[in-house]
Amino acid sequence: MTAAHGRRFEGKVAVVTGGSRGIGAAVATRLAAEGAAVVIGYRGNQQAADELVRSLVAEGGRAMALRADVADPEQTGTLIDRAVAEFGQLDVLASCAGIEHFDALQDITPADFDRVFAVNTRGQLFAVQHAAAHMGVGGRIVLTSSVSASRAVFHHTLYAASKAAVESMVLNLSAELGRRGITINAIAPGGTATDMAAEHGAGYQHPQLRDTMPMEQWLAVHGALGRLAQPEEVAAGYAFLAGDDAAYITGRTLPLDGGFF
Ligand SMILES: NC(=O)c1ccc[n+]([C@@H]2O[C@H](COP(=O)([O-])OP(=O)(O)OC[C@H]3O[C@@H](n4cnc5c(N)ncnc54)[C@H](OP(=O)(O)O)[C@@H]3O)[C@@H](O)[C@H]2O)c1
Repeated sequence: MTAAHGRRFEGKVAVVTGGSRGIGAAVATRLAAEGAAVVIGYRGNQQAADELVRSLVAEGGRAMALRADVADPEQTGTLIDRAVAEFGQLDVLASCAGIEHFDALQDITPADFDRVFAVNTRGQLFAVQHAAAHMGVGGRIVLTSSVSASRAVFHHTLYAASKAAVESMVLNLSAELGRRGITINAIAPGGTATDMAAEHGAGYQHPQLRDTMPMEQWLAVHGALGRLAQPEEVAAGYAFLAGDDAAYITGRTLPLDGGFF
């Protein structure tokens, strides 16, 4: 991977929340392969996080993993402070931690609302606040939305709204961060082959069709490319927005969805 992608992030330090699995793990791997020192945040899966760190270090990278629940801004602050203490600076925040939710209107509870927004929305805002405090000119922040933010899907209101808010945050924060030479953007992935998709992917189908059509067949109908993304394909978008080639892009959300319609 290193030879194929070059060393765009040599001398840079990146924090990747939700870096233990799925899209975040692929982002951490890509940034490390291109020379970044990477700090991986995770919620509970220490084994996956430690294994990823071991493999990145074995490849010659600099990496460490720290448990930090992004629903608690104090833990996010500690994650970022420790990243800076260990590696001396912070150049990139890739905010990938997120949780899914499907429920019909009458079944949504205030606790569901608070839990989903605490991770997907509030968690990302305070990650930006803590990260930006350590960043100088050239800082790069990439948050995670979803194609769901701009699609109507049965029983998906909470998750979709929590991600739509992220796109609005990115747009508005770009103004104040831009004056400091920091860019902030989001990736809106479509269906990507991770644990989350395996667990919740069927929810995207109409309730009457659910479980009648395999996910692959459904995607073949609803996506131009007709398949799930691999996490590495989505990670390439984060690396682009975190790199020098994206220096004049800010406040935007990049759909990375294989032409989902
Ligand atoms: N997969 C898709 O099809 C898809 C599509 C659109 C958008 N997305 C978004 O892309 C992001 C990554 O999704 P994924 O599919 O890679 O998910 P995943 O496979 O479920 O992995 C989730 C990651 O987030 C971490 N995480 C979850 N809650 C956390 C919390 N409260 N604090 C800190 N870390 C937490 C997990 O840590 P542990 O390992 O410790 O549990 C894990 O590293 C999410 O924001 C998701 O909403 C995914």
